[in-house]
Amino acid sequence: PKITYQVPDGTVHIVDVPVGQSIMDGSVRNNLPGIVAECGGSCSCATCHVHVDPEFVELFEAATDEERDLLEYAEDVDEHSRLSCQLIVNSACEGVRVTVPDSNS
Ligand code: FES
Repeated sequence: PKITYQVPDGTVHIVDVPVGQSIMDGSVRNNLPGIVAECGGSCSCATCHVHVDPEFVELFEAATDEERDLLEYAEDVDEHSRLSCQLIVNSACEGVRVTVPDSNS
């Protein structure tokens, strides 16, 4: 499915991310700026914070307690904030859009 990333410099990138990979993987593999992913996706750094556009939030599994706790360390958190390494792409994700805050680095 094609995922749209709006990155901190305001540019928009559309990336085809295979089912089973995370939103973080799609960004890192394509060298997009903004998602640092210091811990490599093991839900322990919070540098992969994104805002999921509200209409797409339901397409992903709910955040675990672990993810919710970690999000407290991220800046600019809102009710649609997620750690992108925990957002696993599934076949319903065509067109999902996320905004990457510039506070990850
Ligand atoms: Fe570290 Fe997501 S990459 S929490």
